[in-house]
Amino acid sequence: MKETEDKETQKLLGRASEIFEQTKPFTELIMRYRCAMLEVKTKLDVLNTQLSLENDRNPFESISCRIKKVPSILEKLSRKGLEPSVESIEKNLNDVAGIRVICSFPDDIYVLADRLCSQDDVRLVERKDYIENPKDNGYRSLHLIVEIPIFLMDEKKYMRVEVQFRTIAMDFWASLEHKLKYKKDPAGDIEEISKQLKECADEISRLDFKMQEIHRKIESGK
Ligand code: GTP
Ligand code: MG
Repeated sequence: MKETEDKETQKLLGRASEIFEQTKPFTELIMRYRCAMLEVKTKLDVLNTQLSLENDRNPFESISCRIKKVPSILEKLSRKGLEPSVESIEKNLNDVAGIRVICSFPDDIYVLADRLCSQDDVRLVERKDYIENPKDNGYRSLHLIVEIPIFLMDEKKYMRVEVQFRTIAMDFWASLEHKLKYKKDPAGDIEEISKQLKECADEISRLDFKMQEIHRKIESGK
């Protein structure tokens, strides 16, 4: 009896240390993503302050950050048939650290994105312009994957951060569309709802650019 108990304890201890071994590098990885996310957020905050001095208004209305939750990380790896390890996360996932920047006008999006990418410690990994080329469902936003160096005790490491830029109206649309996408049993005619959402997305885009034009006229007096 005593012997079996000891064996069980040994097994549990072995498992616990395995988890511990796996957890420490994982915690460190998440810490690195958090640092990178804060670096990029600070860069955007600085740009916002600087550009607001030049133009007397803020280029973005709000900014939010998030680190992907562990269940979402594991779900994404499994969906893509990838190994659930620290190395695999770092190699394969671009959106563990995410920033969303909400602007008033479409032009502000491009000014901010270009200024961010032209900083010499920022590496652009990927740029997807869903404003220029909207998704079939009408989704619009500018997505950047950037790499930024973070300085640890004894090394410099480049970490990837996803930055999504969209207007207030595009964001309003995306939150409603997200509800449809992630609702388990949506009531109503999905096809009809999707069609209406697509119409709203196109209308929103038209209004975004019209408002931008009005704003330009007010500012320039022409
Ligand atoms: P993922 O594997 O999902 O990251 O796809 P991807 O690598 O092709 O990325 P993509 O740049 O297309 O989209 C990344 C993120 O943008 C998503 O996780 C969402 O937050 C957002 N997004 C993309 N498409 C849509 C959409 O059709 N509707 C909404 N509401 N959000 C979207
Ligand atoms: Mg993603």
